[in-house]
Parts: sequence; C-alpha cells; structure tokens
Amino acid sequence: MTTIAVTGATGHLGRLAVLALLDRGVEPSSIVAAVRTPASAQDLADRGVQVREADYGRPETLQAALAGVDRLLLVSGNEVGRRASGHRNVIDAAKTAGVSLVAYTSILNAGDTTMKLAGEHQETEEALRASGVPFVLLRNGWYTENYTAALAPTLEHGALLGASTGEGRVAPAARQDYAEAAAVVLTGEGHEGQAYELAGDRALTLPELASVIADAAGQPVAYAPMAADEYAGVLAGAGVPAPMAEILADSDLGIDRGELVTDRDDLRRLIGRPTTPVEETIAAALPAAAA
Ligand SMILES: NC(=O)c1ccc[n+]([C@@H]2O[C@H](COP(=O)([O-])OP(=O)(O)OC[C@H]3O[C@@H](n4cnc5c(N)ncnc54)[C@H](OP(=O)(O)O)[C@@H]3O)[C@@H](O)[C@H]2O)c1
Repeated sequence: MTTIAVTGATGHLGRLAVLALLDRGVEPSSIVAAVRTPASAQDLADRGVQVREADYGRPETLQAALAGVDRLLLVSGNEVGRRASGHRNVIDAAKTAGVSLVAYTSILNAGDTTMKLAGEHQETEEALRASGVPFVLLRNGWYTENYTAALAPTLEHGALLGASTGEGRVAPAARQDYAEAAAVVLTGEGHEGQAYELAGDRALTLPELASVIADAAGQPVAYAPMAADEYAGVLAGAGVPAPMAEILADSDLGIDRGELVTDRDDLRRLIGRPTTPVEETIAAALPAAAA
C-alpha cells in the first residue's frame, strides 16, 4: 500500500490536505501527518492517521518521519527567510528515504514572477531539480482566505486596503480547492515532472473584490489604494511581522504586474469542478468577522 506523508499538517492547508486524502478513501493508517508539534495533531491521530514529528530545521526528525513514505506533500513553511533551508532539509531526507514523488506547494508563476515572496519558492524548486528526486510543483495562487483574514477591520472601516493601484487582477481560490488538488495529485498517476499553475476561475481587481465584500455584508466597502511602504506600515501596525508586511505589500505590486493570475485552468481541471467562488468564502467568513 502507498504511504503518503503531509508536512505542516497542523497548519491550515496541510490539515485540509490530510482530510482531502481521507475523503478520497485513502486508509488513515497509510497517511503520515508529519508535524512540528505532534500533540497538535491529536484529532488526526484519533482518526487513525500516523502522526510523526517533522521539524524542517531539525534534519534528524525528518529522517525518521519519512521512513517508509512513498509520496510526500511538502507544504511550504511560514518562517520567512528560513524556509528555503528547511525545505532543502526535507528534500534531502526524502531522497535518503527513497520517496518516489515529492509534491511541493510553490507560488503561482514561479518561473518568472519577480515578487519578493517568490524567492524562497524559486530556491526550493531549484533544490528539487538538483536533487534528482521525482517531483511535481503545485504553484498555488492567492488564497481567498488572505482577504477574509482581515475581514473584521475591512468591515469596521468600510475599506479594503492594499498597495495595488486597483487596475491589476488577482485570481484567488479557497484553501480547500488547493488542498483537494494536492490530494488528487498525491493519489493519481502521471503527475511527475508537471508544474501546475493553480488559481481561481475568476480574476478580479481589488475594487471588484471590495464590491463583492460590500454586497455580502450589506454595507459600503471601497478599495483604498496606498503606497507600498505605507501599506506595509499599516500591516506592521496590525501585528504582521515587519519582513512579512513588506513582502505582502510587495505582492500587491505583483498583482499589478499580472503575476497572481494565469490563463491556465489547472486547478479547475485537477479538482474536476469550478473553483470555490470568492462570494462563498467571504459569506462563510462573515459571521466570525461581524462577531
Ligand atoms: N497562497 C497563499 O495565498 C498563501 C498564503 C499564506 C501562506 N502561504 C504558504 O502556504 C503555506 C501553507 O499555508 P497555510 O495557510 O496552511 O499556512 P499555516 O497555517 O501558517 O501553516 C504552515 C505550516 O507550516 C508548518 N511549519 C512552519 N515552519 C515549520 C518548520 N520549521 N518545521 C515544520 N513545520 C513547519 C507550520 O507548523 P506549526 O503548525 O507547528 O506552526 C504549519 O503547520 C504557508 O506556510 C506559506 O508558505 C500561501
């Protein structure tokens, strides 16, 4: 039986990927949730999923975590500046363990995007190519949840803030869509060597996104464009670590360069259905934002 491991399985995307594997009928005992803090994955253990410690920064945990694993979903880490080295540790461990397919959650248009956020993803893709390990790239676009995470202040001020001019378009999809795509790839055949450009079906400007939020909430919400450094300052003031705030503001400039859209329909094709409409994700987040 094929054993499938998912790193970052205590995070949002990794957990959804494990659940998507279970939904696709994968035996719980054939799934390894490879996590930094095993105690946080007790709910998965209760369902029969194997939980093993795997810290990207501690190679000795990775060797043990990947023993006997056939296929691996490497969920990119969230520690900006330390991600590429951690991912390299995972790739090295996967090679030693003889993993036959590594699926890596990269960034949309990683081949030519110039967004600062992409740097560590591009380094990781390069490390995969150099490793000789069979791999597939899941180049994920923006999560719609990036916008719902800030829904409460957006509603409070009636303003969606950003550093895009408002002309550029972004094609977000729900995390669930990306997680399902990962599960399809991990359980299917013929994906080795592919680079999937994954994004939502609809590309919208941030003023259009503000209108969607306004309609859903039944109150005025307008897009408020800011200079990138000013927007980074607002994010930092709201508690986003400064390096991440700068990267997020820079990503809005990437929206204006067309780097968070694609004309490919890889996500829709992989999951076999339209991507989740942004209206749906926003409606689902409204009760918590309004509370
Ligand atoms: N496409 C987008 O719009 C978008 C937006 C945000 C992030 N991302 C990227 O996509 C990834 C998954 O998204 P998400 O929403 O699931 O993020 P998340 O909830 O922050 O999950 C990140 C996961 O990575 C794990 N991790 C971080 N550093 C690690 C380390 N040194 N060793 C082992 N595990 C480590 C975390 O472990 P713990 O649970 O122990 O903290 C967590 O489980 C993010 O990490 C980031 O690279 C993409």
